Amino acid sequence: MTNFSRPNSLRLGVNIDHVATIRNARGGDHPDPVRAAEIVASVGGDGITAHLREDRRHIRDEDLKRIQDATDLPLNLEMAATEEMLSIALRHQPHAACIVPEKREERTTEGGLDAAGLHNTLVPIVDRLRDAGIRVSLFIEADERQLDAALRLGAPVVEFHTGEYAHAILDGDSERTSKELRRINDMAALAAKNGIEPHAGHGLTYENVQPIAAIPQLAELNIGHYLIGEAVFTGLESAVRRMRELMDEAR
Ligand code: PXP
Repeated sequence: MTNFSRPNSLRLGVNIDHVATIRNARGGDHPDPVRAAEIVASVGGDGITAHLREDRRHIRDEDLKRIQDATDLPLNLEMAATEEMLSIALRHQPHAACIVPEKREERTTEGGLDAAGLHNTLVPIVDRLRDAGIRVSLFIEADERQLDAALRLGAPVVEFHTGEYAHAILDGDSERTSKELRRINDMAALAAKNGIEPHAGHGLTYENVQPIAAIPQLAELNIGHYLIGEAVFTGLESAVRRMRELMDEAR
């Protein structure tokens, strides 16, 4: 994603999956995630993120091209490490592909990818995406072993899973919150030192985004569920603007 206009820039990628979730609840065309992508573009969002899940519970195959045709924003395609998803990514050529773990029964992406344990599965997928000019990102826990695995795979980007941090805040556990924050902070610094661009996402809200946005090495946050939820009350435009303001304030 290439918005370099802000000093010390932290990009905001908006995950529009849950617009599609609402659409799919009735099986029709409304609300259209493409319209959400256009709104994100109009208010200065830096990118669109979408997860094409194996069960197609959010966006569907045909949405990908429609999203790409509708805006010039870079598309970050979240995908499981499967042959099916690889061939879809190669066909659509998104700006970036973020490899995520995926279990059919989970409600959302719970936990990071085991990049260390899956090294042999990931090598050909990362290589083929990279050879096609797609920027590969690995969605991992902020953990040295996983970061080391990302380095060995030659991934240019990692996205740190902020779910545990978000849960610690919800539980009112300040010790765990500090520990999680420190972990993300330390691993973002280590990633940057090793030439990997660190991103973060999952469970971020107006209330918890600022300590994460303040981590200087982070280049991008990907935020979805909360923004789409807020959009029900205030509109997507206003929700994206507010998140942007909070992120900028924290830098
Ligand atoms: N980043 C990645 C890799 C994800 O899988 C998700 C959830 O799909 C998000 C960010 C956004 O998480 P949330 O919807 O909780 O903001």
